Amino acid sequence: MENNKTQELYRRAKMIIPGGTQLLSKRPEMFAPDQWPAYFSRAEGCEVWDLDGKHYYDMASNGIGACLLGFNDRDISKAVIRRIDSGSMCTLNPPEEVELAELLCDIHPWAERVRFTRTGGETASVAIRIARATTDRSMVAVCGYHGWQDWYLAANLGESDALRGHHLPGLEPFGVPVELRNTTLTFKYNDKEEFKKIMDAYGDKLAAVIMEPCRYNDPEPGFLELVKESTRKYGALLIFDEITIGWRLTYGGAHLKLGASPDMAIFAKALGNGHPIGAVIGTKDAMEGAHKSFISSTYWTESVGPAAALATLQKLKRVKAYEHVAYIGSLITKQWRKCAHTSGLSISAGEGYPCLAHFSFNDENGEILRTLYTQMMLERGFLGTLSIYPTVSHNEKIVEKYSRAIEEVFNNIALLVKKGDLTAYLKGPVAHSGFRRLN
Ligand SMILES: Cc1ncc(COP(=O)(O)O)c(C=O)c1O
Repeated sequence: MENNKTQELYRRAKMIIPGGTQLLSKRPEMFAPDQWPAYFSRAEGCEVWDLDGKHYYDMASNGIGACLLGFNDRDISKAVIRRIDSGSMCTLNPPEEVELAELLCDIHPWAERVRFTRTGGETASVAIRIARATTDRSMVAVCGYHGWQDWYLAANLGESDALRGHHLPGLEPFGVPVELRNTTLTFKYNDKEEFKKIMDAYGDKLAAVIMEPCRYNDPEPGFLELVKESTRKYGALLIFDEITIGWRLTYGGAHLKLGASPDMAIFAKALGNGHPIGAVIGTKDAMEGAHKSFISSTYWTESVGPAAALATLQKLKRVKAYEHVAYIGSLITKQWRKCAHTSGLSISAGEGYPCLAHFSFNDENGEILRTLYTQMMLERGFLGTLSIYPTVSHNEKIVEKYSRAIEEVFNNIALLVKKGDLTAYLKGPVAHSGFRRLN
């Protein structure tokens, strides 16, 4: 194991911080244990420096999707610094939040009311609370991942693994009150029959149906229409989670592109380009519960979040971010496919939106190959995983460098596969694939 400051600090972290980090997706064990750098000293565009001054291009999640414009975007940083220089927290409220609320409603003409938060999971929780208050009902139906909170993990209290396949395996409901059993039901994306069954059995008890309007692919014809019609029929509110896909497919929520409007939509992550801000937007009727329910928090009133969001939305529009990230994602996907073909590796790539480009190894040792890919990319100066959230800061030159690395790495992996000697080349343990106890 390399002896360096970055790895050493993470070893200390694991002695004192349960789980090592505050977000599962920032655990080095998810990529290449003992090799992935846990910490950064500087970040700029899609470039990152670790604590030892080692430089990487981020061809991975770019702040887990938070920095669609790239890290430390100068326009956003300037707006934030300007706000900090005039005081970012006060006894009074930030005026930017009114402008931001109006802007979000302009972009999403069906929306009439807005509340702000600071993180993604809490934004989902606020939306669920509002829906429950508005409808005076408790049950919720979910598809996909929406955060760490009780209302969501309650789905796993029932048949123990209802959330399997909803983005993250291994989410045991430890610490979630058993009394919440049967308050959250799950359904799979595009599964009309399963959805109909839930609605027939529980539709009139549901406060809300919450789902991403899409994640990696367009919905099958008729699926979103069915969801919308039957939520309306049974009086449940439809909430679209745009926390990850929002702003990546179009300027605004992806639902604008799909032509389906919900009762509420939630945003976080890219909304502040790395500064904490989340938003629940909704129709006047759906948001009625926000008048009745006590939903209130001190740091939802600081000024950096809304100032960053206003600057971010302005720039996302000006540079047509969604067009650029689709272009970059498709270049990288093309390279994965081309290099797999020439090296003789079998992969699946190009199934889905290029703004969230990804591939997988078609091999029984897929997890070892995934770890080797990241290991070899780190050696070449890339934070490289099997998926990339491209940003506005990625350009053709950087993609070209990455393309050369893909070619080399695929050729090397193909050789190791042929030799049948995969683990011998690994410099650390195999990557973890879901949530599990670390320390
Ligand atoms: C669709 C979706 N909803 C909610 C969340 C939770 O957001 P956060 O990690 O900011 O709490 C995520 C995070 O990955 C997400 O992708």
